[in-house]
Amino acid sequence: MQQHYLISGDSFEILSKINSRVDAVIVDPPYNTANKNTKILKGRKARSSDFGKWDYFADREYLDFTEKWIGLIKPILKVNGNLLVFCKLEYISDIKRIYEKLGFRHHGTIIWHKTNPAPQIRKTGFLSSCEAIIWATNGFDNSKISYTFNFSKQNEMHNFVETPICMGKERTAHPTQKPKKILSHLIKIFTNEKDWILDCFAGSGTTAEAANELKRNSINIEADKGYFDLMKKRLSSLENTKIVRIKDTKKVITK
Ligand SMILES: C[S@@+](CC[C@H](N)C(=O)[O-])C[C@H]1O[C@@H](n2cnc3c(N)ncnc32)[C@H](O)[C@@H]1O
Repeated sequence: MQQHYLISGDSFEILSKINSRVDAVIVDPPYNTANKNTKILKGRKARSSDFGKWDYFADREYLDFTEKWIGLIKPILKVNGNLLVFCKLEYISDIKRIYEKLGFRHHGTIIWHKTNPAPQIRKTGFLSSCEAIIWATNGFDNSKISYTFNFSKQNEMHNFVETPICMGKERTAHPTQKPKKILSHLIKIFTNEKDWILDCFAGSGTTAEAANELKRNSINIEADKGYFDLMKKRLSSLENTKIVRIKDTKKVITK
């Protein structure tokens, strides 16, 4: 039976209190992309880009924020464990530099292409249809390949994934929910059954749901009470699963 820890609170306080180690960290953090615009699209619901206070940063502040949380996950991630971070394309090299500064080894970047991005109403620029997922390991042993990398078929291992943005029955009220298909793809490649995955910006719980289907365990931290409750509700319907809502992080055991 898989286990999923759900922790309500601020990752900057919680991460330093976790004593156990995880096999992989897969995280979709705030992107620093929110703005006050609302797009009114003919025949579709108005779409606001104001996701919430959690996604507003000054530029330098965003890099400090990123360096700080990546530094906090380093002692929790097993040596050679995989780290996957979603980000907008503009930050790829900044985050790669942060990885290197903190002793991670950058191995590559995967591009996510969204097949149904919001249209460019004024036709003055490109549609924003791509995001990045930056892969690193916690250190690297040059003498052997010591990280998990489940290579399937050549045509399934492009550094490119294509899906629509989250829609239909899968969609919750979370404004930046990721499609489960992407998380499942990453989890299959970068982890094995029974592994533990940490998502410290868990939102609606997409990582946990995908992990559960693939027989992996997870630790999920979310600061916003409303999104935390959404995640709790979403995961409570899963079968063959132990959902542990904890307040005391010493009780997180990943063995
Ligand atoms: C991009 S969203 C994640 C969406 C998620 N991947 C999903 O599919 O639903 C980032 C989340 O991080 C949360 N967050 C922001 N700062 C946080 C912090 N310091 N600690 C924990 N969660 C935080 C936000 O409330 C938001 O739900």
